[in-house]
Amino acid sequence: MKNIYLDRNENNYGPSPKCLEAVKSVTPDLFNIYSSAYKNGYKSDLSKRLSDDFNISEDRVLLGYGAEDLLKQVVQIYLEEKTDKLLVPDHSWWYYKEIANETNSISIEYPIVEGEESYEYDIDKLLEIYNTEKPKVVFIASPNNPTGNSISDNQLEFILDRMSESVVVLDEAYWFSSNNAKATELVNKYSNLIIIRTFSKLYALAGIRIGYAIIGEQLKQIKKISNRYLGYNRISEKIALAAMDSPDYYNDIATKMKSDRDLYFTELNKIKNVKAFKSDANFVLVKIQKELMSPLKEFLVAKGIVIKFMAEEIVNSHLRITIGTQEQNREVIDAITDFYKQL
Ligand SMILES: Cc1ncc(COP(=O)(O)O)c(C=O)c1O
Repeated sequence: MKNIYLDRNENNYGPSPKCLEAVKSVTPDLFNIYSSAYKNGYKSDLSKRLSDDFNISEDRVLLGYGAEDLLKQVVQIYLEEKTDKLLVPDHSWWYYKEIANETNSISIEYPIVEGEESYEYDIDKLLEIYNTEKPKVVFIASPNNPTGNSISDNQLEFILDRMSESVVVLDEAYWFSSNNAKATELVNKYSNLIIIRTFSKLYALAGIRIGYAIIGEQLKQIKKISNRYLGYNRISEKIALAAMDSPDYYNDIATKMKSDRDLYFTELNKIKNVKAFKSDANFVLVKIQKELMSPLKEFLVAKGIVIKFMAEEIVNSHLRITIGTQEQNREVIDAITDFYKQL
């Protein structure tokens, strides 16, 4: 039996065929010769391409070993003292707090609240905590993992207008629909803002480890430290560029995922005592009765379906299901429905 893995927010459609062609056409010089981008006055072919796409100077594009790397860089560079604070959502990627722990700095949580159909940022509460705690760095995730909700442009600008004393990180790892022009407008307006994205999710390239950031003018420290004099992984860059040259392929996937997100929402909400939340990402969060967490897990595993049964206290009666291919999604919805029928 072949297992279906829908527990790590990977993209099961796989990368664009152009990425595989790029791998096949790799020439030996990409292995043994450093990039010569520096000689041409920029960091790398990929950062140059991103700078053109975002219409921002190339020195304000950073590349990292995944978004993870860039998040860590921000924390390690800007949280210098043990008393420095990082503000993170209470429902968030568990790893945010881990990153703060690594530097011995303090992470403070702000609430993301359960609404009627989706989770929401509580902007008033966030600002109240911000003003009391005076953090060095604030993490905002949009869409947020695991809740799937986004922050609206208005909400974001409202808080950015009031957070000029901190470095604000907008983690857009799950940027399925946000647009480049808006991102550029924001980092041009807010010089303390850093927007981080990744090739891991929509582009289905988690294995090649490439993330990038566009940054505000004020963030000179990270700009200086992040740059790699000897360049980046030339083969990964070639694959990432091929992905950027495949908009039709990825738009098609994004459309399918959007319609399957709606399908999960409609179908799972038909089941009594199950609440599926609206999501803007490639996963959905679903609340069930706590006592059914283990039996449902066993039932699904027996069918070869692996989804994430959340363990953190704040979401411990929740499942997070990564949106798979249309076939896989149907299978998961049917399996969960069957589980409830046999109770
Ligand atoms: C919110 C969030 N940000 C960043 C990442 C890291 O992505 P990357 O593969 O680019 O390191 C993840 C991975 O799951 C994530 O959930």
